[in-house]
Amino acid sequence: MRMYDLIMKKRNGSELTTEEINFFVDGYTKGTIPDYQVSALMMAIYFQKMNKRETADLTMAMVNSGNTIDLSAIEGIKVDKHSTGGVGDTTTLILAPIVAAAGIPVAKMSGRGLGHTGGTLDKLESFEGFSVEMPIEKFIEDVNTRKIAIAGQSGDLAPADKKLYALRDVTATVDNMSLIASSIMSKKIASGADAIVLDVKTGSGAFMKEEDKSFELAQEMVDIGNSVGRNTIGVVTDMDQPLGFAVGNILEVKEAIDTLKGQGPEDLTELCYTLGSYMIMLAGKAKSAEEAREVLKHIIESGSGLNKLKELVEIQGGNPEVVDNPELFKKAPIVEEVLAPKDGYVKSIKADDIGLAALVLGAGRETKESEIDLAVGVVLRKKIGDYVKAGESIATIHANDMDKKKSSEEIILKAYGFSDEEIKAPKLIKGIVTKEGIKKF
Ligand code: URA
Ligand code: CA
Repeated sequence: MRMYDLIMKKRNGSELTTEEINFFVDGYTKGTIPDYQVSALMMAIYFQKMNKRETADLTMAMVNSGNTIDLSAIEGIKVDKHSTGGVGDTTTLILAPIVAAAGIPVAKMSGRGLGHTGGTLDKLESFEGFSVEMPIEKFIEDVNTRKIAIAGQSGDLAPADKKLYALRDVTATVDNMSLIASSIMSKKIASGADAIVLDVKTGSGAFMKEEDKSFELAQEMVDIGNSVGRNTIGVVTDMDQPLGFAVGNILEVKEAIDTLKGQGPEDLTELCYTLGSYMIMLAGKAKSAEEAREVLKHIIESGSGLNKLKELVEIQGGNPEVVDNPELFKKAPIVEEVLAPKDGYVKSIKADDIGLAALVLGAGRETKESEIDLAVGVVLRKKIGDYVKAGESIATIHANDMDKKKSSEEIILKAYGFSDEEIKAPKLIKGIVTKEGIKKF
């Protein structure tokens, strides 16, 4: 097989066979096929696209390019949740305990990554002493005995994706549905889940800004999952404003604790009920989303979700008392309000700018080496549709430095848009995507 022929074939609009896809992914991972030929192929794929079969083949070739995690020693159906990424998204810290409390094994491998705030691992390290490093044997044992463990991604998962994604990033070939969907799904499948619930964000703070494109991406990923034997459902959800109120690590953990007590923000609570219900259904523990929701309601009302978080914190080395007494968390030295410049209804809150306002405070990583301050961040006081009077607080900044506080404040003031007319809050759950197709709500 020659790479030249594959490039020409795709350039001319033909399908690549399974063997041809395996050939280039394998050769690129090993370094026997050079960047310039793979770049040319990516550009050909960008213009000529790939069909469903090619997309699933590419996904599995990337899965098989490195290690995969074998969770077969864990009893039951392992359901994972994946979010395409948003601002202030604290759902994992709530979903993992409530789903585990429903008796479903939660074997979560999480990342840190770059972003406005840290990832799930950083947030969990808000509990002093919490450790995300553990041998796979302990991870499996914890899930078998307690239904929950959260660990850092170990090993070399989907190395082909790592290489291809970096190449696409510098050759203007990221933006293709098949390439994005296979990239995300390869990492999920390599992590060993039997079933996957995808939270595909849409709006100003999402990777996919347009709703139709978000549904298209969700369908592409759902089709990959189902065609390789992973029961997969996609939920398209709003990211036109941050989720909940808090954006920042400890601030979000506190918000998650409130939500587990039944006192969380409405949107965050609703999203957890929706995603959690599908997770319970895919695990075969409920026949309908309504039945699953009742299970989750009971878990929150009885406090068993909160207890599960305490158990997780304790077994992984943190102090579970902090869950009952969040006042024990580290606090930022500067806490100041951002005041509304005029009267009106909040019309828009650019989610990625609020993320940036948290990032400049030190809540996230700009480079892999950046140090995070877990205590800093932004807590919104007003969301889209709320009425505000001039001089009233729209957000609270938690900072460790006055200059950073000032930059953050400027960004927040620019992120908010106001209107004299009444504004309706955006719909949170835009629809669901299954192998049967798209259902918009
Ligand atoms: N996120 C990924 O992991 N891969 C892509 O291609 C795009 C977004
Ligand atoms: Ca939040």
